[in-house]
Amino acid sequence: MKPESRTAVWDRAALCILTLCFSSLHVIALKSQLFTRFGGLPYSTETPITYETIYFDQKIDHFGFAEEGTFKQRILLAAKYWQQSGGPILFYTGNEGDITWFCNNTGFMWEIAEELGAMLVFAEHRYYGESLPFGQESYSDSKHLNYLTSEQALADFAVLIQNLKRTLPGAQHSPVIAVGGSYGGMLAAWFRMKYPNIVVGALASSAPIWQFPGMVPCGDFYKIVTQDFAKSGHNCDANIRKSWKAINNVSSTASGLQWLSEEFSLCNPLKNTLDVMVFKSWLQETWVNLAMVDYPYKANFLQPLPPWPIQVVCKYLGFDSTVSDHQLLHNVSQAAKVYYNYTGSTSCLNTSQTATRSLGFLGWFYQACTEMVMPMCTDGVQDMFEPEEWNFQAFSDECNTMFGVRPRADWAGTVYGGKDIASHSNIIFSNGGLDPWSSGGVTFNITDSLVSIMIPEGAHHLDLRYSNDRDPPSVRAARALEVKYFQQWIKQVKKAP
Ligand SMILES: *[C@@H]1O[C@H](CO)[C@@H](O)[C@H](O)[C@H]1NC(C)=O
Ligand SMILES: *[C@@H]1O[C@H](CO)[C@@H](O)[C@H](O)[C@H]1NC(C)=O
Ligand SMILES: *[C@@H]1O[C@H](CO)[C@@H](O)[C@H](O)[C@H]1NC(C)=O
Ligand SMILES: *[C@@H]1O[C@H](CO)[C@@H](O)[C@H](O)[C@H]1NC(C)=O
Ligand SMILES: *[C@@H]1O[C@H](CO)[C@@H](O)[C@H](O)[C@H]1NC(C)=O
Ligand SMILES: *[C@@H]1O[C@H](CO)[C@@H](O)[C@H](O)[C@H]1NC(C)=O
Repeated sequence: MKPESRTAVWDRAALCILTLCFSSLHVIALKSQLFTRFGGLPYSTETPITYETIYFDQKIDHFGFAEEGTFKQRILLAAKYWQQSGGPILFYTGNEGDITWFCNNTGFMWEIAEELGAMLVFAEHRYYGESLPFGQESYSDSKHLNYLTSEQALADFAVLIQNLKRTLPGAQHSPVIAVGGSYGGMLAAWFRMKYPNIVVGALASSAPIWQFPGMVPCGDFYKIVTQDFAKSGHNCDANIRKSWKAINNVSSTASGLQWLSEEFSLCNPLKNTLDVMVFKSWLQETWVNLAMVDYPYKANFLQPLPPWPIQVVCKYLGFDSTVSDHQLLHNVSQAAKVYYNYTGSTSCLNTSQTATRSLGFLGWFYQACTEMVMPMCTDGVQDMFEPEEWNFQAFSDECNTMFGVRPRADWAGTVYGGKDIASHSNIIFSNGGLDPWSSGGVTFNITDSLVSIMIPEGAHHLDLRYSNDRDPPSVRAARALEVKYFQQWIKQVKKAP
């Protein structure tokens, strides 16, 4: 890899934000979309929530005996509706970000706590938010990052629950149900698989547990993004597909670069081919983010957006194929501004910012560079993006440059069972039909107790968000069914001797 491309990677990496930020990193040298981020960052102005924050001592290393240090894991507890002595515990398996964010935005748990008489616990994932094993040094090098794995995170959750049961009066016989969205949903499912002694069941919402090498075609993710645009407006996908060539055409001259920069109101004018590459990657990420947050109501995701934002975007992209490159790109810029300037208060568009910077993105990068290898590719035919193959070697080299580690492509499949998970039980996999991450999700029923709930009109874990008047019937039905399974699992435990 060329030295300058490392800078590009970092610049690009910096764009990403906590959760929901999906970043397809196009690096100049390899231009492969290696790093992806996701998670759930719905936002809501619903009823204020109250919880207690506790800090729990966790071992830095659960699986070896040489490292004896501990760190403080942040836990949020809400026991207002808990029926003591045996009332259930809904346990959110924190993902790659600040736990208060997930807590604020998992309205579903807050809405069902009373009905189930449940206590809510939100556990922060190690290396995110305040739960840093080595404080400010946690990210300093691969030695310090060594304990950032999903296995260690699951062990944290297990040890925590064992301790809560021992120390909280009335909790000893409480059935615990794991809940999570996105990577947190993967953790919820894996938690039930690995620790069936600790959780009676799991709701894994928009959890791409099969987005690993060899499990699903690498192109499915971007196909779904494309379908969302195709069904939201005539020619919408076709015009985005054409826009990449148009950008290449226009950006081939200095005056074209300037025009493009002005048309998109870019904070930093495009100067060279590297800038153009970053620009295209930023645009691609914009369309992906829109697919993830294509909610039926106004929501403040990373940016405030109108209801069904892709339909609004597609209003600008409905023309026929005869327009000039400049006309096409003028309208693409208007479409992009739906995402970046819905409130009308944005002065310029910053291609090094699809969202805010945070520690979270770096941690997810590291996880993608070790265990969470998620192949992605595009062909420009079945999707609306520039063709790009999945290149594991290039990815691995990039990881080595960034962190001094190389990913283990097959490990996730080995440790979590890949597609052979039928021997497990009591897991609900919910997926939104609009959510690109459903590409790696469980979208069919495996057994009577490994069930898949599809929400055709749903984007990224819509079911975990607060309910809304504009929710489609499919998500209402999904939530009702989820609660029914929860009640069934709770009853099963109560009956057991
Ligand atoms: C979560 O909500 C509380 C108050 O409701 C707020 O103080 C806090 O900043 C929110 N956290 C995040 C990460 O948005
Ligand atoms: C780009 O330039 C080529 C060559 O001039 C032209 O054929 C094509 O129509 C232009 N635009 C697009 C979107 O391909
Ligand atoms: C663009 O975003 C980057 C990364 O957040 C930031 O450092 C930079 O100051 C921003 N540029 C402008 C002009 O806002
Ligand atoms: C661009 O979008 C506008 C809507 O703002 C639309 O009226 C116009 O037809 C579009 N341009 C082209 C070239 O189709
Ligand atoms: C955002 O919208 C406002 C209001 O329409 C407009 O004045 C401003 O120029 C827009 N910003 C960008 C970057 O286009
Ligand atoms: C799985 O089974 C449940 C319960 O019968 C049903 O509601 C659901 O629609 C099924 N899921 C799929 C994807 O067929």
